[in-house]
Amino acid sequence: KPQQPAGEATPPAAAKKLVVGFSQVGAESAWRTAETKSIRGEAEKRGVDMKFSDAQGKQANQIQALTSFIAQKVDVIVLAPVVETGWEVVLTQAKEAGIPVILVDRGIKVSDESLYTTLIASDFVEEGRMAAEWLAKKTNGKANIVELQGTTGSAPAIDRQKGFMEVLQKFPDMKVIKTQSADFTRAKGKEVMEAFIKSDRANIQAVYAHNDDMALGAIQALEEAGMNPGKDVTLISIDAVKGAFEAMVAGKLNATVECNPLMGPLVFDTINKVRAGEKVPKFIQNKDQLFEQANAAQVIGTREY
Ligand code: AHR
Repeated sequence: KPQQPAGEATPPAAAKKLVVGFSQVGAESAWRTAETKSIRGEAEKRGVDMKFSDAQGKQANQIQALTSFIAQKVDVIVLAPVVETGWEVVLTQAKEAGIPVILVDRGIKVSDESLYTTLIASDFVEEGRMAAEWLAKKTNGKANIVELQGTTGSAPAIDRQKGFMEVLQKFPDMKVIKTQSADFTRAKGKEVMEAFIKSDRANIQAVYAHNDDMALGAIQALEEAGMNPGKDVTLISIDAVKGAFEAMVAGKLNATVECNPLMGPLVFDTINKVRAGEKVPKFIQNKDQLFEQANAAQVIGTREY
């Protein structure tokens, strides 16, 4: 080891980089891509060593990724869980290893809430309520609705249906006549909508899609069937991605409820607080708003995702 010349101060040891393991659901929608970009971009900006794993929509892949993050002794785990249940075993392992787990965008159901530190997300039940209130107003409380659900067992699919149905209780002439999962993708949204049109074409007055991508697929199916989305059929969905604004400007989608995916800065601010020993709330909520056709052209230029 070379000798330190007399009188010279020892240089400070290079600060150890923060290591974060991020297990993402997949890349099923434009919303998801925007969320990944926001979190990865912020990690890069802050010089964080991020280990990223794309689960391709499978919980088993997420459990495997978490097991590997624990083995690698990462400092923090960020998890966007594909479904709500089945997390106890792997999260107990993370807890025993002393690794805090930050949930992003989707919540989980666990008997022991200490298995995760906090959830940073939108209120999906409220999003469902907002969609139903808007649709009730638009249709004067009278509509046959078909519903395109998100991934079965996922928090947004469960909660967006719950909030929507809660409001529908007040409107006896608003009925969900068909409901099926289209897994949050545009391709499945089109496929399921085609089946709905085939079996019940004359009765479909409105579409409620749990995300914009499925609504965009449904619009394609309606057009191919010679129907007029946005006019004969009223469509509302959730996310407020660029594609939804384009469809609103074109008059094909009627409204979208925002679900903000740009959570990178908030995720890393929260991680810093947790590491500094600060107490953070169990639920850190993103605030969302509803956009409709009338203001879409004015707003589209300001959208970041
Ligand atoms: O969990 C958020 C939902 O997941 C988004 O609304 C949807 O587009 C995504 O796939």
